[in-house]
Amino acid sequence: MNTRLLLLLCMMIAWLPADLRAQEPKIITISTDDVSLIYKVNAQNGRLYQSYLGKKLSFESDIQQLPFGREAYLTHGMEDYFEPAIRVLHNDGNPSLLLKYVSHESKQTQPGINETTILLQDDQYPVEVKLHFIAYSKENIIKEYTEITHREKKPVTLYNYASSLLHLDAHTYYLTEFAGEWAHEVNMKETELAFGKKMLDTKLGSRANMFCSPFFMLALNEKAEENQGEILLGTIGWTGNYRFTFEVDNTNGLRIISGINPHASEYTLKPGETFRTPEFIFTYSTEGTGKASRDFQRWARNHQLKDGNKPRMTLLNNWEATYFDFNEDKLIQIMDEAAELGVDMFLLDDGWFGNKYPRKNDRQGLGDWEETATKLPNGLGKLVKAATEKGIKFGLWIEPEMVSPKSELYEKHKDWVIHLPNRDEYYFRNQMVLDLSNPEVQDYVYGIVDNLLTKYPGIAYFKWDCNSPITNIYSPYLKDKQSHLYVDHVRGLYNILERIKQKYPNLPMMLCSGGGGRSDYEALKYFTEFWPSDNTDPVERIFIQWGYSHFFPAKSMAAHVTSWGKQPIKFRTDVASMCKLGFDIRVNEMKPEELQYCQEAVKNFKRLSPVILDGDQYRLFSPYEGEHAAVMYSSLNKDKAVLFAFDIHPRYGEILQPLRLQGLKADARYELKEINLMPGTQSRMACNGKTYSGEYLMNVGIPAFTGAATSSRVVEITEVQ
Ligand code: GLA
Repeated sequence: MNTRLLLLLCMMIAWLPADLRAQEPKIITISTDDVSLIYKVNAQNGRLYQSYLGKKLSFESDIQQLPFGREAYLTHGMEDYFEPAIRVLHNDGNPSLLLKYVSHESKQTQPGINETTILLQDDQYPVEVKLHFIAYSKENIIKEYTEITHREKKPVTLYNYASSLLHLDAHTYYLTEFAGEWAHEVNMKETELAFGKKMLDTKLGSRANMFCSPFFMLALNEKAEENQGEILLGTIGWTGNYRFTFEVDNTNGLRIISGINPHASEYTLKPGETFRTPEFIFTYSTEGTGKASRDFQRWARNHQLKDGNKPRMTLLNNWEATYFDFNEDKLIQIMDEAAELGVDMFLLDDGWFGNKYPRKNDRQGLGDWEETATKLPNGLGKLVKAATEKGIKFGLWIEPEMVSPKSELYEKHKDWVIHLPNRDEYYFRNQMVLDLSNPEVQDYVYGIVDNLLTKYPGIAYFKWDCNSPITNIYSPYLKDKQSHLYVDHVRGLYNILERIKQKYPNLPMMLCSGGGGRSDYEALKYFTEFWPSDNTDPVERIFIQWGYSHFFPAKSMAAHVTSWGKQPIKFRTDVASMCKLGFDIRVNEMKPEELQYCQEAVKNFKRLSPVILDGDQYRLFSPYEGEHAAVMYSSLNKDKAVLFAFDIHPRYGEILQPLRLQGLKADARYELKEINLMPGTQSRMACNGKTYSGEYLMNVGIPAFTGAATSSRVVEITEVQ
């Protein structure tokens, strides 16, 4: 537009009658490369509305014409009859809130990251609500959180305090949840939503998940599909009780309210204090689930997961190999096996600590973080030294937030333990949870890690476990503020993790919680990977890894080859090679050809980990659909890819279709080579050693499945000139 025209336009606007100008809605656009979330302020009533959420709108003139839509962060007590985002009780006993727009600001905080804050205020009470949006342009991820503050004379009680409220409008809504149980995590189940509410929530206190993971997918109009359709993927960054509410109203509008579970968690907020909610993180795709997951995975590596762009260590763990039954000699022998296998690290699991109550089983010892003298007479120092001499790193299991009732810590510091003073104790896995709302306990937990690293600077890694949900919920520290415990406990955990990260910024750690109880993106700011499940049967793992992959990149998921399932070693290793490869098996019990195969597989994994761990993932064939599964990883510039194809329980006489690949350049030529072959065997794949165009591979496909149960193939795909 030339300057004269612009001037003319400004003059015309200035000539408009003042009241007409005031009627113009203010528009707040939050956008990424592919998604727009648009809010409008209604000048008549001063309230904020969500006008649009969907594929990016690029024409300003269209955006101007968008209808207002539905009110943004709905409150309780006014004219809305459905679930509110916020409900407060003022100190005069009035339970209502009416939020009006005050101001907003948008700024670029880093290249490709834009932050928008919208300030809302009640017109009768000095209560402020700030809605924060952080938009990651390239990865199409939007993070939302809310800050609530007030200047009333006495505390205000918050009953509901959502991180986010999003509105959607469609004919039909299909919700996919990822529910299950210990050793049976993230089973995907899709259901159509009808009028009313569906909630996904947990009340476990110390972890987000045991029965239902803190993430969901919501498909619009059609069921979720990998490569087409509109879908929203959402998750909450909170390592405690969470709640997602999906409510379809009388006009078939859907609202999604996400945040901390308000159950038994009303929070009294002092004047001037700010309540900051956890982050709700979502993406919206019009090209199906696959793209949405790749956006999530890229975003996690680039912005959220600890050391998201750094390499990972392969390892040998001793948990399933020995359980509690080990001593110094046995561990040193296992370290030799780790070195022989070619992995980077040996990880010592549970069972190394406690003297008055040695940790010889899971019934005692948690809390007493000193080496058991009878098992490890020379302490961890000897083990760290032995590992170093063998050219591998040493990692250690801890469960620092917990205490066994049979422990010296419990005897000394019952006041640090969450328990009801006047009732019998109830134990989960024979243990109890320490009260992390208490700063003294935070110091103690931080001290466990700090003391170990001070005494043994050679410890290169921690597996941080958390096996028990909170039982007998009562904090000796919080006294008359018991309803703060669920929230303050999790905040206490973050204080500890933040201190550790500050002092030991380069320390990799695995997040574990009795299998996959903890897999949320706030915790993953402090952890390089998580343990998806205690179930390491590879057939089950195909499903489990498939489920988590909707939100998490391969490098964040630890996957170990164990003896669970007893399938051929190749099948077990190929499944684990799709994520962060590790072993938890006695190498000395392997046959020579099995060991040779594993050594080769470790080498291949290390060589290809820039593709597997840092590339884009394409889910090609779902284990939920048939008797096979296939996943492919492609480097970001598409010059290299790795295909994993599995036959689980093929049917007799099944007619096998070629598998179409994805994520390649149509006009490039690729050579295919089957790798991870058992010694002495030849590839039976017709495509092995041949060269095809990307176009062919993606449209015609290759025969990748067979009729042999629990068999697998790994194919390296390399661009050739
Ligand atoms: C939990 C973990 C396991 C193992 C045991 C040790 O169950 O998920 O991997 O570390 O604790 O007790």
